[in-house]
Amino acid sequence: MNTQVKALIDRLANRHTLDREELLTLLEQRTPEAAEYLLEKAREVRHAVYGREVYMRGLIEFTNYCKNDCYYCGIRCSNHKAQRYRLTREEILQCCAQGYALGFRTFVLQGGEDPFFTDEKVAEMVRAIKQAHPDCALTLSIGERSRESYRLFRGAGADRYLLRHETANADHYAKLHPPALTLERRKRCLRDLKELGFQVGCGFMVGSPYQTLEHLVDDLLFLGELEPHMVGIGPFIPHSETPFAGEPAGTLELTLCLLGMIRLLLPEVLLPATTALGTIHPTGREAGILAGANVVMPNLSPTSVRSKYLLYDNKICTGDEAAECRACLAGRMDSIGYTLAVSRGDYPSLSTGCPS
Ligand code: 5AD
Ligand code: FES
Repeated sequence: MNTQVKALIDRLANRHTLDREELLTLLEQRTPEAAEYLLEKAREVRHAVYGREVYMRGLIEFTNYCKNDCYYCGIRCSNHKAQRYRLTREEILQCCAQGYALGFRTFVLQGGEDPFFTDEKVAEMVRAIKQAHPDCALTLSIGERSRESYRLFRGAGADRYLLRHETANADHYAKLHPPALTLERRKRCLRDLKELGFQVGCGFMVGSPYQTLEHLVDDLLFLGELEPHMVGIGPFIPHSETPFAGEPAGTLELTLCLLGMIRLLLPEVLLPATTALGTIHPTGREAGILAGANVVMPNLSPTSVRSKYLLYDNKICTGDEAAECRACLAGRMDSIGYTLAVSRGDYPSLSTGCPS
């Protein structure tokens, strides 16, 4: 193996930081052999922090209405072919009850930016879920709102918030989004969420159109700045009814390298092996876990709406019941020597009462 690359991986594993130039060298000079070494180091760190447990999050995709028009996303408002739906409060509570019986102790309410769900409606949902399941963590993933809205959600009992930054490079951000959306505002939301005491997740797509390795270095440096509790990354996958329909998908190889690098940069971070990773390769999620990821997020949405929440083409699990995904994932984790945990799966320094 190239001795310079090996030294960089060792430094990243031991000191959990590299500068811009070093991160770029590592990405540029990586070989299959170097990647194997990187993933081995990432696994060691993952085992030291989390052992062989994998945390589960039950994802409830409760609305696919969205006022935004992101160029990569299948539920963008310009996609008039998308069949729009909203789940009722009863349906959402039903998903949680079913998830609870299957051992889920975290629920993620994810949706497009849907003005129908006013701050008060969202807060009311949060209260109802937390009242029904006080031993569960609740995560919101509903996009950009004001600091005051976020404060209301936090007061209502929401524990965590996922808001991917998508790319930490402003020029690249402008190539993926219409002018109404800015990286600056996205970053402000993330800082607001952190200050309000949420466990915060950011993240980005790997291999999105116009992305360079320099942009990915910007993403990694941004993680070092924000110090999020969670990082969601997955390959970009084209959706046929978007401006990026003809663009190539991100690769498994680069996504795994980035998962490994993120595990070494932020040893305690909650890192999902995403559905997108499972979509580009039949055993993508298993490979993600073996690259340092420690979370899976199966879908708890009713099967009747699953095939309508399509951010990208060929999404897996759209025909499967929650119980089937739970059993399928248990088998997949078992096949690589890992087990699904029945627990909230909080960020470790938080559960010991030690603020990060
Ligand atoms: N391919 C992969 N991921 C996508 N997302 C949206 N569209 C796509 C796509 N075409 C991701 C974005 C978003 C998250 C919910 O899904 O990163 O934040
Ligand atoms: Fe859904 Fe395998 S995880 S069917």
